[in-house]
Amino acid sequence: MKHITLADIKAMDAADPLAHKRAEFELPHAVIYLDGNSLGCLPVAVRARVTEVIDQQWGADLIKSWNIHGWIDLPVLTGEKIARLIGAGPDQVISCDSISVNLFKLLSAALGLQSGRRVVLSQQDNFPTDLYMVQGLSELLGSHRCQLVTVSADELEGQLTDEVAVLMLTHVNFRSGHIHDMQRLTELAHKKGILVIWDLAHSAGVLPLQLDQCQVDFAVGCTYKYLNAGPGAPAFLYVAERHLPVVTQALSGWMGHAAPFQFSPDYAGAPGIGKFLTGTPPVISMSALDAALDVFTDVDMQDIRHKTKQLTSLFVTLASQTPALESLTLASPPDAEQRGAQLAWRHPQAYAICQALISAGVIGDFRAPDILRLGFSPLYLRYEDIWHSVQQLANILETGRWQEPQFSQTSRVT
Ligand SMILES: Cc1ncc(COP(=O)(O)O)c(C=O)c1O
Repeated sequence: MKHITLADIKAMDAADPLAHKRAEFELPHAVIYLDGNSLGCLPVAVRARVTEVIDQQWGADLIKSWNIHGWIDLPVLTGEKIARLIGAGPDQVISCDSISVNLFKLLSAALGLQSGRRVVLSQQDNFPTDLYMVQGLSELLGSHRCQLVTVSADELEGQLTDEVAVLMLTHVNFRSGHIHDMQRLTELAHKKGILVIWDLAHSAGVLPLQLDQCQVDFAVGCTYKYLNAGPGAPAFLYVAERHLPVVTQALSGWMGHAAPFQFSPDYAGAPGIGKFLTGTPPVISMSALDAALDVFTDVDMQDIRHKTKQLTSLFVTLASQTPALESLTLASPPDAEQRGAQLAWRHPQAYAICQALISAGVIGDFRAPDILRLGFSPLYLRYEDIWHSVQQLANILETGRWQEPQFSQTSRVT
């Protein structure tokens, strides 16, 4: 394989159709940010929007803003913008709450459609909150109504039996970045009468998705990663149109009522996706989300996918031509087609190496027990950043600088 040089990489940047998007973000000086898969960078438009919401809308127009500035419409409006990015037609996506809370709503809705079945099948190494939410629901409903069964990724297909009510999977694995075949698994599940819930936390905004075309039943996703809407930004959920008239929503709060301002004592869910709302939307965060989504109006998801494959492949190639990185083992699929926009590198001292890397200005994160996880957000990363990241990592491993005691001190958030 040809040895890649910095000049080759600069040529890739010069030809990058997404290069201009970088200017739409506020990026800290002298930092290479490989953690957009945890918390995306701040879009320039978000600062202006949040300032306006605080100064003018909340500060001056106060309660009138629910109508005159459309605060009440934000969950639907942002849901529609997300729908475009995930291959969903209108009236099926809404922004609200967190992934965890939305999973509770969708799991109870899906189980409600599956009388006589109780098993929720998932993957052992799914993101823990997904499993915890099933465990909580099982406690609440009893194991005769909801029972979690987890298997390894390899065993999933063999476990799709007609005992299973719901298959709940994360599309892109949070550690390894492995991508499930959404179309195939959804189809196989449907053949056995199983409903499918997909968690799109590591997919939305970075992979071209076709939820309608794949006949997905339900999905959740977050907006603080690749959608760059900010820390704790609202999540979203998708319910296929065909289920909307019949599903019920367990967290039946007033915002999901058909007529919340009639203040009726009896709950009557809104007819469409609106029934999946629960309480008052967090307007400042939702406004940030709305502005952040506009960054995507002129980008093609295929260009985004192409660039993430190139970015991760470039890192892997540079790592293979850098002897100092030999002690790191790739824990992501070696084939770029099969991984999302992240790379997981296994090392017994991954935590300290990650901290040393952060102190050198390259921000990644650590995922227990031994993973250095690097995310490649294509809208603000340059190919040249990959070159410099590999250089910094090589320097840390060569000098053993990660062994300095401060890099072993653990924080609450890793
Ligand atoms: C796959 C996956 N699901 C869920 C979550 C967290 O969801 P929540 O929005 O409830 O914090 C994460 C967080 O990183 C995640 O990676």
